[in-house]
Amino acid sequence: MIVKRRVGQDSAPVRPGQEQSPVLRWPLMENNITREDLDAVIRYLQQDDPILTQSKNVRDFERAWSDWVGVRHSVFVNSGSSANLLTMAALRELHGPGEVIVPTITWVSDIASVLHCGMTPVFVDIDRRTLGMDNEHVLEKITPRTRAVFLTHVLGYNALGQRLLDELQERRIPLIEDVCEAHGATFQAGRLGSFGLASNFSFYYAHHLSTIEGGMVCTNDVDLYETVRMLRSHGMVRELDSDSRRREYWDDYPDLNPDFIFALPAYNVRSTEINAILGLSQLKRLDETIGRRNANLLLFLNNLNPDVFQTDFAFEGCSNYAFTLILKEPDESLMRRVMTTLRQFGVEFRRGTSGGGNQVRQPYLRRLLGDDAWRSFPRADHVHFYGMYIGNYPTLERDRILRLCEMLNGLAE
Ligand SMILES: Cc1ncc(COP(=O)(O)O)c(C=O)c1O
Repeated sequence: MIVKRRVGQDSAPVRPGQEQSPVLRWPLMENNITREDLDAVIRYLQQDDPILTQSKNVRDFERAWSDWVGVRHSVFVNSGSSANLLTMAALRELHGPGEVIVPTITWVSDIASVLHCGMTPVFVDIDRRTLGMDNEHVLEKITPRTRAVFLTHVLGYNALGQRLLDELQERRIPLIEDVCEAHGATFQAGRLGSFGLASNFSFYYAHHLSTIEGGMVCTNDVDLYETVRMLRSHGMVRELDSDSRRREYWDDYPDLNPDFIFALPAYNVRSTEINAILGLSQLKRLDETIGRRNANLLLFLNNLNPDVFQTDFAFEGCSNYAFTLILKEPDESLMRRVMTTLRQFGVEFRRGTSGGGNQVRQPYLRRLLGDDAWRSFPRADHVHFYGMYIGNYPTLERDRILRLCEMLNGLAE
């Protein structure tokens, strides 16, 4: 029998009056775009006839983001999903069709982008401590047709290991990092997003940094950078950064108007100056808010009953924005009690963690892989049924976190 445990030694007294109210009023995200950010936009809008479409602020945000991540180039787009799409489209353009190794726990756009670009996703189960792809399973899935490993750092936990990096480098297989849920997380001395051929970030409202909607493709590879710049904007040659590359097209296509040379059949996934101003404003406090969120996560995990809930996540280098709550063992009845009680307490949550759980259970993949594919990915399936996340934001009070842990620990029988 699991012994009920009270909140750990770290616990602080509950504020007077709070013990009477069961309501914690805990949305998935709160106050992620502050007065200061909005004021920065308002100041910009007060100019006469301000430029609103992609211009200098987008450039400035891209440069500042590159410096912060530790890469040479960044391309700002209108969502993390668009970042996924452009990265896969550029990969296909530069490396040709083939297989892309992907996780079972990730967002739909990671897989959709592979499919949309005519490539074949090859699925891998997770490592239960990182929630990212099991690195050894990735290596087992590599074939001569592998064009990339597209790895997701789930809920702020680093999924990279040195052996994987060494093997990919030796076999010359590009690594793509999805860092949409892990801004600022690190592996060894580097920020995640600086290790592969390219990386993708999302700035959706619920993430570490928000531009309302938004995303970024980062890379050190100039060919990929220039390709993504064109893909972002109708495939147009005038979007190229390099004068000489642009001139080459002008020379090769003298019958075309230099302003309208479409090198690739592409998209329009640009963002705007307003979104970039929000990003620049938020970036100033990102390191500080990451520190606060990580402290919140530690408090949460240190006060959960480790006999009931998984608490041994790979915390090193982590940059969390949502608490991971995963039952240690399958237990339908406990999961039901957890969900009912969270709802009663006004705590918003998302089942299955990133992307709603095991992707191969989703209709769009059952059509391709059949109804039983989930059987090959038992760890992702455990998270699918017995895992969830709860919002973690800088303004969460310590007392509320401790009350939540106490309430959760009390549900075990
Ligand atoms: C891992 C991951 N990749 C990609 C995305 C897509 O980002 P967006 O919502 O900005 O399109 C998300 C969304 O939250 C995500 O969690």
